[in-house]
Amino acid sequence: MTTMESLIGLVNRIQQACTKLGDYGGSDNNNSFSSLWEALPSVAVLGGQSSGKSSVLESIVGRDFLPRGSGIVTRRPLVLQLHKIDDGETEYAEFLHRPGRKITDFAIVRQEIQDETDRITGKTKQISPIPIHLSIYSPKVVNLTLIDLPGLTKVAVANQDIATSDAIKLSREVDPSGERTFGVLTKLDLMDKGTNALDVLEGRSYRLQHPWVGIVNRSQADINKNVDMIVARRKEVEYFETSPDYGHLASKMGSEYLAKLLSEHLERVIKARIPSITSLINKSIEELESEMDHLGRPIAVDAGAQLYTILELCRKFERVFKEHLDGGRSGGDR
Ligand code: GDP
Ligand code: NA
Ligand code: MG
Repeated sequence: MTTMESLIGLVNRIQQACTKLGDYGGSDNNNSFSSLWEALPSVAVLGGQSSGKSSVLESIVGRDFLPRGSGIVTRRPLVLQLHKIDDGETEYAEFLHRPGRKITDFAIVRQEIQDETDRITGKTKQISPIPIHLSIYSPKVVNLTLIDLPGLTKVAVANQDIATSDAIKLSREVDPSGERTFGVLTKLDLMDKGTNALDVLEGRSYRLQHPWVGIVNRSQADINKNVDMIVARRKEVEYFETSPDYGHLASKMGSEYLAKLLSEHLERVIKARIPSITSLINKSIEELESEMDHLGRPIAVDAGAQLYTILELCRKFERVFKEHLDGGRSGGDR
C-alpha cells in the first residue's frame, strides 16, 4: 500500500473506532474525536426515488449487497465505510450493531440490512433517519465512506429538466460552487429511441466543476435473473463503446470510471487536509492520554478498550506521517 493509502486507512479506522465509542456514550461531542470524524470526506448520494442510487454505490464497491428495486427500498441511511486490505486477504463485511461477526457471504449482508431496517421501521415501510453502519474490508476497494440514502420522493416526471431537478437544487444549496458535486446520469439505456443525453453529459444542460458521468447499471430484469456484477460491468463498457451517441465519450463513462474519479478526488482532498488532520490527531493523543490517566474511575470495559484502540491508531498515524516526511516525499508519492 502507498503511504497515502495507509494514512487514509488509519483515519478511516480511527473514525470507525470513534463511532463505536460514541455508541457506548463514552465521549462528549465537542472534543477532537468528533472533528476527526468530520476530517475525512464521505460521498452521499442524492437523487429521486428509484433513480439508481443504491445501484451506483454497489457498482463502486464492486459487490452485490444492497437492497435495490422499485419503490422506497432504502429506508434508513447506510453509512458504508470501505477499508482497503492487502491483496490476498479475505474480503468481509461487519456491522457496527453486530461487532465481531465477520460476514463473507454478501447475500447475508443484504438480508441483514433489510432485517435491521425493519427492526426500526417495523415493516411499516416508513423511513427512519437512524443510520446503519457497515464496514467492508476488501483488497478491491479504496478507503472511502459512502452514504446511501432514501430517495427524494416526488411524482416522477418523464424527461425532467436536469437543471430544475430536486437533486440539483439540493446540491446547489449545500455546494453552491459545485466543487463537491459529481453529476451522475443513470439509466441511459432507458432513454427513448432517437433521443440522447449529450446535453447533460457534455455539460450544456447544467454545468458542474467536475464532468458528468453516464451510467448503465442492471435493470430489474437483470436483477431478477441474477446477472452478476462482472457481467454487468462488461455490458456497461460495451454499451458505451458501441454507442453511436456516446462512443466518443466511452473512456469517461461508466461505473469504473466514476469510482476512479471519486478516489482521485478523495486523494486530492485528503492531501490538502493532511496538515489539519495531523494537528487534530496530535490533539486527540493529548486528550486520550489524559482520559486514560483518569481511567481510575469506573468506565465501561468496552469504552476503555475503544479509547485505547483510538490512541494506538492515532500514534500509528503520527508515526507513518513522520516517516512519510522523513522520507523526503512530503509532496506525496505519486
Ligand atoms: P434507488 O432507489 O435510487 O436506490 O434505486 P435502485 O438502485 O434501488 O434502482 C431502482 C431500480 O432501477 C432497480 O430495479 C434497478 O434495477 C433499476 N436500475 C438502476 N439503474 C439502472 C440502469 O442504469 N438501467 C436500468 N435499465 N435499470 C436500472
Ligand atoms: Na428504489
Ligand atoms: Mg436505494
